[in-house]
Amino acid sequence: MQSDTVRLLRYALPFKGTLGAALVVALVGAAFEVARPWPTKVIVDYALSGRPFPPWLAELTGSTPSLATRPGLIVAAVLASVFLVICSAAASLATQVIVFGVAQKMVVSLSGQVFSKLQRLSLSFHQRHAVGDLTQRLGGDVFVVQAAICAVGIPAIASLLSLFGMVFLMLRLDAVLALVTLSMVPLLLLALLVFKKPMHKANEQQWRRQGEMMAFINQSLSGVRLIQGYAREAYFERLMAGHALGLGDAYVKSMRIGAGYMQVTTIITALVGATLLGVGSMRVLDGALTLGDLLVFLGYLAMIATPITGIATAIGTATALNSRGRRVLEILDSSEEVSQRKNSVTLQSVRGDVEFAGVSFGYPGNSPDASAGPEPLVFSDISFRARAGQVTAIIGVTGAGKSSMVSLLSRFYDPTSGVIRLDGHDLRDLALKPLRESVAVVSQDPVLFPMTVQENIAFGRPGATRNEIIAAAKTACAHEFIEALPNGYDTKIAERGASLSGGERQRISLARAVLKDAPILILDEPTSSLDAHTEAEIFASLSKRIEGKTAFIISHRLSTIRRADQIVSLENGRIVERGTHDVLVSGQGVYSRLYESQNIAAL
Ligand SMILES: Nc1ncnc2c1ncn2[C@@H]1O[C@H](COP(=O)(O)OP(=O)(O)OP(=O)(O)O)[C@@H](O)[C@H]1O
Ligand SMILES: [Mg+2]
Repeated sequence: MQSDTVRLLRYALPFKGTLGAALVVALVGAAFEVARPWPTKVIVDYALSGRPFPPWLAELTGSTPSLATRPGLIVAAVLASVFLVICSAAASLATQVIVFGVAQKMVVSLSGQVFSKLQRLSLSFHQRHAVGDLTQRLGGDVFVVQAAICAVGIPAIASLLSLFGMVFLMLRLDAVLALVTLSMVPLLLLALLVFKKPMHKANEQQWRRQGEMMAFINQSLSGVRLIQGYAREAYFERLMAGHALGLGDAYVKSMRIGAGYMQVTTIITALVGATLLGVGSMRVLDGALTLGDLLVFLGYLAMIATPITGIATAIGTATALNSRGRRVLEILDSSEEVSQRKNSVTLQSVRGDVEFAGVSFGYPGNSPDASAGPEPLVFSDISFRARAGQVTAIIGVTGAGKSSMVSLLSRFYDPTSGVIRLDGHDLRDLALKPLRESVAVVSQDPVLFPMTVQENIAFGRPGATRNEIIAAAKTACAHEFIEALPNGYDTKIAERGASLSGGERQRISLARAVLKDAPILILDEPTSSLDAHTEAEIFASLSKRIEGKTAFIISHRLSTIRRADQIVSLENGRIVERGTHDVLVSGQGVYSRLYESQNIAAL
């Protein structure tokens, strides 16, 4: 078995007691199973042919005279065979029930772990993986542990046990026939060796394609509005057909290989069976074997194929599971690029003194050759300070790196080089959760969850009262339109906020940040979708809320920028100007040009 499957089986460790019990039941079941051909032998050899009873039978029937008669023995043997069948069936049912119960618990625990890991993994991980593919891994591939236990683990062990039992009894009956029967094992192993690699490849391909298709469906459903708007439905249908066809091909290929393997095992079993029948009959003719013994062998032959194919299938299934299991383990093994250091510091109260010292940054994994080479820098050698309570405006052309710069403050990414300090501490030395709790962000494209308006606003402060929520909404000029919604604050927002206008989404997201009341506030073009009048109103009420907080405001609008304590102007990945409105406006730089163009536009 492969190491990944073994690793997944480790998730069974907490249930080892229950699984041990299942194994004992399986062992008892195997014993009943192995005994099944023996009543036939008793009937044929002792009741029908009139041989003298062997000692064990004589002892068994001695105390009950009715058994010593031939009809009595036949009735007893028939009843015994029925009893054996019922007992082995009951044992196998009990094993399955126990094992399924455990497997279900394992799936719950593993999917919980994968989900929480996905929540913690850095943004750069999520950027590399499509949502649909991750959904497939979390929703489908984690069931691999269930399959591993239910289809591979316990059944394989039970098969092995009954195989050992049968081999032991066969060797005692007749070594030659036992060897003929056992010749099946190397033949099946050989078949497995031949089929394993293509089977593994086909399976892997199938799961990969499935993930890709899930990702595609996810993306097209998210973008359905755009697809309809551009009337590109036919194009997407073709793409979808391509995905479905690819998946279908991969599925058929893997089925074909699996079915081929099954047929080869059937042929091997039949060949060995024919040999057994021939050699066995000869040995009965020679008198080396009784007819009853041959019947026991034929009975075992019919039965033995089950555990052997069971083991072989288990190994085959393990191969398939391995490729799915790897998809799950890949998530669990991914390192959290942004993670908390061991001796991290928790600031008792955050003043909000922020300092960028020689900070350069490039998105991880963004280099053309993902495996090597440094990633291209978005900005380099940025140094400036924002004192507690100051408002810093960041300006620069689109793509200059403004959003990237402020995203480092929440430690969504770490700088490639240089240090960002909060109250004198390197951000990387601070505990992650309290750090993020002290930063409130209104991002450029607001994200709303499909919950009520109230829950969306209270997202950063779940315990907030209704009045606090309303006050925050009023600051963001959102109260009026929220009141006008069908259920006011209790209106459920459609997925991704589809039921609201861009400006409404922005104001709810602003209210959320206002309510969070964190010492550091980041506003990334918070009013870009709003008219100038509403914007002015928001900034008027916001200025009271901002007092004492360190604020970073990214904006292209002069009216928003000019009130800042300092303006930082980014160009080509560097700070080209820094100062107050009055200083910069008299200079010859970007800011004075912006000032002139907007003033002219306002005329
Ligand atoms: N998640 C990301 N992964 C890789 N590259 C990114 C990512 N986000 C942004 N970039 C790149 O980094 C550069 C700076 O982007 P950023 O979003 O910081 O610009 P911006 O100044 O905020 O622009 P805008 O005014 O348009 O919002 C761009 O070249 C962009 O392509
Ligand atoms: Mg931006």
